[in-house]
Amino acid sequence: MLAAGLMVSAIAATAQADIAGEAGYQQNCSACHMANGQGIPGAFPALAGNSLVAGDAAEVLRVVVYGRAGMPAFGDELSPDALAAIVTYIREHFNATSTRLTADDIAAVKVASTAKMARED
Ligand code: HEC
Repeated sequence: MLAAGLMVSAIAATAQADIAGEAGYQQNCSACHMANGQGIPGAFPALAGNSLVAGDAAEVLRVVVYGRAGMPAFGDELSPDALAAIVTYIREHFNATSTRLTADDIAAVKVASTAKMARED
């Protein structure tokens, strides 16, 4: 019974993260990258079929947390849970990857970047 209950709550948490990821993407990213992740050629890169987005998750998280050129930084705007859900969504939904990211992955990127900045001072 207990095991079944735990399994049900794990599945429910997963479904909730999926919903949060899609809603968060539509709210925060789709204005530039479009609802379907196709972007606008010459202005906003497509996130669908994008080898950076499908590749090293830490790289994708770094762009989203800190921004890059015309890409705004979201590290202070959105909670780590929300960011993890959004990046999981763009990797899974637009690029057929299946790594589920969590707030811990966001924390790891922030720690690594802070250490790097300290070294460069
Ligand atoms: C105001 C417009 C805008 C919004 C909103 C925006 N982006 Fe971007 N994004 C950009 C631009 C412009 C670039 C290209 C940056 C560059 O040239 O270095 C970019 C690049 C990226 C990249 C890197 C793509 C690559 O091929 O290098 C990722 C990943 C990304 N955005 C994800 C997101 C996510 C996730 C959100 C929502 C949380 C988001 N973006 C919201 C404009 C935006």
